[in-house]
Amino acid sequence: MTVKAEIESQEQGAAQARAHSNIALVKYWGKRDKQLNLPATGSISVTLDALYTDTAVRFDPELTEDQFRYGDGSWQTAEPRLTRFLDLIRAMAGTHGAAWIESQNNFATGSGLASSASGFAALALAGTQAAGLTLSRTALSMLARQGSGSAARSIFGGLVEMRRGTEADGSDAHAVPLLGPDQWPLSVVIAITDNRSKTVGSTEGMTRTVETSPYFSGWTDSAEQDLEAMRHAISARNFEALAEITEHSCLKMHALMMSGRPGLIYWNPATLAAMQAVRELRSQGVPVCFTIDAGPQLKAVCEPSVAETVERTLKAIPGVLETRHSRLGPDAHLTGSPVCS
Ligand code: PMV
Repeated sequence: MTVKAEIESQEQGAAQARAHSNIALVKYWGKRDKQLNLPATGSISVTLDALYTDTAVRFDPELTEDQFRYGDGSWQTAEPRLTRFLDLIRAMAGTHGAAWIESQNNFATGSGLASSASGFAALALAGTQAAGLTLSRTALSMLARQGSGSAARSIFGGLVEMRRGTEADGSDAHAVPLLGPDQWPLSVVIAITDNRSKTVGSTEGMTRTVETSPYFSGWTDSAEQDLEAMRHAISARNFEALAEITEHSCLKMHALMMSGRPGLIYWNPATLAAMQAVRELRSQGVPVCFTIDAGPQLKAVCEPSVAETVERTLKAIPGVLETRHSRLGPDAHLTGSPVCS
């Protein structure tokens, strides 16, 4: 699937990019700085080959307001969140023109499949190229972070760590690659249990948790231990350890979400049934574990040799609407003929 860009990729001031979605194994929930979108904790994720966003950007000196369209939809004045993000690119490039932005996901937007991660990573890459900037991957990750925390990780493929950083200006809060997609082949089977958009988005949910949960300090205090254990599991390619830490981090994050006021419950009965099915498979020796983000979809991480068994098991659960299988995906990249590199 490609964005049907009216944009000619050779055209100056225009570029097109693809970024893949990612799923955190060690979760991020809560910000240390809302303005700069700095995470309270680091996180570790896998980038997904099967889910991605294509985005095309063209700066137009004649245009006064940024215009956005999704897929074949009609052009609309871009939302403030998008315009603020483009303002960061305009400030870096020293340009003033507004932009035409076309974007398309090959999966349902806003339903807990990390569309903001792939979306802002693709926009960071296409937008900077269109503005005539060629940024390092680190700088791109810092930029993408300001659109959405998890987008910082989608700049890289494979297994990726997002560094919390300690600097107030966010200059050390960016992602780093841990292993490339072929260095530890893993599969992710996604069980979709609801296609609607989530009711409480991550930014609002995080604010509520930070402000009202009595457990938030426990969450931040225990993060480094999880990250350290996961780094070891990854460097040793130890699936059993990865599975244990992944489920621990997921359940700890959901317990944290539930402990705010009012508590956030992102699961439905099918999510819970799928969690139990994954645990049952693992107890029979199948190398699989689950994780769940701010939505009711379950993501089962497994060794590729058992992906079919996992998919079959999840598909048979009442309330699971569909499943998708993904291997680990690549870095965000320019598509079509790159304009400025
Ligand atoms: O980047 P955001 O604002 O969409 O937050 C992502 C939060 C989780 O998906 C729940 C966890 C994570 O680390 O991706």
